[in-house]
Order: sequence, then C-alpha cells, then structure tokens
Amino acid sequence: MSTFNIALLPGDGVGPEVTRAAAEVLQAVADRFHHRFVFDTQLIGGAAIDATGDPLTQETLVACRQSHAVFLGAVGGPKWDGGSRRPEQGLLELRKALGVFANIRPVLIYDALLDCSPLRREVVADVDLVVFRELTGGSYFGEKRRGADFASDQCIYTTPEIERVARAAFIAARARRGKVTSVDKANVLETSRLWREVVTDLHAKEFADVRLEHALVDSMSMQLIRQPRAYDVILTENMFGDILSDEASVLGGSIGLAPSASLGAEGPGLFEPVHGSAPDLAGRDRCNPIGAILSSALLLRYGLRLADEADAVEAAVERVINSGARTADLGGDIGCQAMAERIADEVLRSVSHSHHVQM
Ligand code: NAD
Ligand code: IPM
Ligand code: MN
Repeated sequence: MSTFNIALLPGDGVGPEVTRAAAEVLQAVADRFHHRFVFDTQLIGGAAIDATGDPLTQETLVACRQSHAVFLGAVGGPKWDGGSRRPEQGLLELRKALGVFANIRPVLIYDALLDCSPLRREVVADVDLVVFRELTGGSYFGEKRRGADFASDQCIYTTPEIERVARAAFIAARARRGKVTSVDKANVLETSRLWREVVTDLHAKEFADVRLEHALVDSMSMQLIRQPRAYDVILTENMFGDILSDEASVLGGSIGLAPSASLGAEGPGLFEPVHGSAPDLAGRDRCNPIGAILSSALLLRYGLRLADEADAVEAAVERVINSGARTADLGGDIGCQAMAERIADEVLRSVSHSHHVQM
C-alpha cells in the first residue's frame, strides 16, 4: 500500500463543495486501488483572510510544499471586493511559490452533452483540445502602480519563461495530434513579439516534427468558437490563456466541467477546476462538481503518476454522464453532493476500463 499526502485548499464560495466532492472521489480511488491518501485541509483566499488577515499563510504554504499534490477549490467573492488584501492574491502567490508555470486546461466534449453547448452540435462534436497557459508571468506578476489618477500593470516575459512552457506544449502535442497554435498579440505588444520569436526558435531547434502556427488573440477568440476542431494544443501567455480557457469551456457545455493541472519543473503540482467561486450558487448544493473531480483525475495522473487510477475516475465520470445524471448548469436537478456520490460509486464498481486522454 502506498501513502500520498494531498493538501486540500477548499477556499471560498462553491470551493468547499467541489473540494468535498473531489476528496470523496479520491477516497473511492484509495479504497478501490488500495492506496492511502492523507488529506491535509488548509485555509486559502477569503477564508484565510477572515481567519488570519492573510490570503496565503505560512502554514498553508508549508503544508503544500510537504504534500505530493495540492487540490484547490476556488477563491474570491463579493465579500472581499474592495478590501486591501484580496483572496485572489493568495492563489497567485501560491502558484508563484510552487513554481507551477504550465497551466494545462483540457477541453473535451462528451457526446451525451453535445446539445448542452450553445453552439451547433456539428461545430463541437469531436473537439479535443488543450490550452497550455503560462501561469507565473506576464501582467499578473509585473509591478503594479497606482496613483490618484493613474494605474499600471507591468507585463514582462523573459526568454526562459516562454521557452519552458512552450517546450511543455510541444511535448504534449507530440503525444496528441502534433499541432501547436501559439497565441499572442505580436502586432501590438513587445512581449508578444518576443513570445513569437522564442516559440519559433524552439520549434526550429527541437520540435520541427510538430506543426506550429501563430494566431493573434483577437482572431483566435473568434476561430475558437467558429471552428474549434481545428485546434490541438493552444499555447499562450497568462492573461490570454485565462480568457481563452473560459471561452473554450463553453464548447463542452458548462464551465463547471472544466479541469486544470498546473505543473512546474519540480515539487507538487496544483490542481483546480477552471471555474471560480460561483457566489450565485454557493452553499446551495447547486454547482457542478465534475470540473473538480476531473481535476482530481489530473492530480492522480500528473501529480501522483497513477495513470490507471486517473483513467478510472475519467471513465466513471463518463458513465455517470451517459446515465443521464445532470446538475443544474446542464439542465438537470441533481445536486453537487449526489453527483459526487454517483461518481464515487462508479469508481468503486469499476474494473479496469480505459479511456485515456493524452495531454
Ligand atoms: P465563476 O467561474 O465563479 O462563475 C461564472 C459563472 O459560471 C456563474 O454563472 C457561475 O454560477 C457559473 N459556474 C461557475 N462554476 C460553476 C460550477 N461548478 N457549476 C455550475 N456553474 C458554475 O466566475 P465569476 O463569477 O466571474 O467569479 C466569481 C469569483 O471567483 C471572483 O471573485 C473571481 O475572482 C473568483 N475566481 C476564482 C477562480 C479560482 O479560484 N481559480 C477562478 C475564477 C474566478
Ligand atoms: C483562474 C482564475 C484566476 C486567474 C484568478 C482567480 C486569479 O480566473 O484560475 O482562471 O486569473 O488566474
Ligand atoms: Mn480564470
């Protein structure tokens, strides 16, 4: 029996509900596959501000560093808007401290949910893409200045920062359909011109077998919903990746389905759903836990290197979706907790099915 330490950071809004759901499914994996997962639940975001004044405490950071993988629900909410310390700052500090520069956001379409997308089914059928979003640089982390009548957010990228996330994207493309679309705003931004140069050079030197195309972010945001099947790996900087990945989640039918993995060169990865704290749904057992549960599958695959276990969770989610179970965002009436229970039960009943999506 192997033991893994998993830090759980529920955070705010629906964060605790989806974290409970993910932990329940992870516990089912432990039971089914004979592992021991030791969960260490810690404060982050608004919950941490309320308890300590600080959105990321030293205690939380130490617990994360000592873990094999970190799961985060969501942070933020109207309660903390306008305060001097914001919940979101805790998440940004955590990403930086863990060095998780590559944020991987897969978009996959379940056939049974084709009609949940506002786009026509022939547009979204068979879409299979993944966004590689740079996560620890750009305007999120540059110097911020504020005067009485001005404000600025500096955007800096260095060559090594671009190269390491681009390398991760090219490697992923090799194991998929062999295509990378690098997204920038090189017609306007100097950081984007450097981005394009570095990606082009790396491609020529190490990844000539992968197809590379460049796209400007404005046109990309249009093409992404016009012809999403054209894309395999989408590589982009922090802010553009934030925006494009929310847009891409519409293809699958709900942002509540979208998972993410954030990985660095070493140390624990950070796994969180793409959605936020959904204040409109919080505390009502109304949110969709599947994005969180699929994030726990990514935690198993990339954080703990447990591929069969990750496959089992993904297969269980698919079977529950195929059975017709739907949370409110997908037009159904199943609660968050009941959905998690169904998926956990499926994991426990599973034999080794395999449905492995390559990142
Ligand atoms: P949001 O993602 O929380 O919600 C956007 C919409 O999607 C809402 O209508 C919400 O009800 C719906 N939605 C979100 N998650 C859902 C789920 N699991 N199931 C069903 N529907 C779901 O975005 P927002 O409203 O712009 O932001 C709310 C707060 O969350 C803000 O404070 C923001 O900073 C924060 N946020 C945090 C994270 C994170 O912690 N990783 C990510 C995004 C936003
Ligand atoms: C996300 C969120 C965060 C981001 C916020 C909450 C800081 O929107 O994870 O997509 O912008 O990265
Ligand atoms: Mn976002």
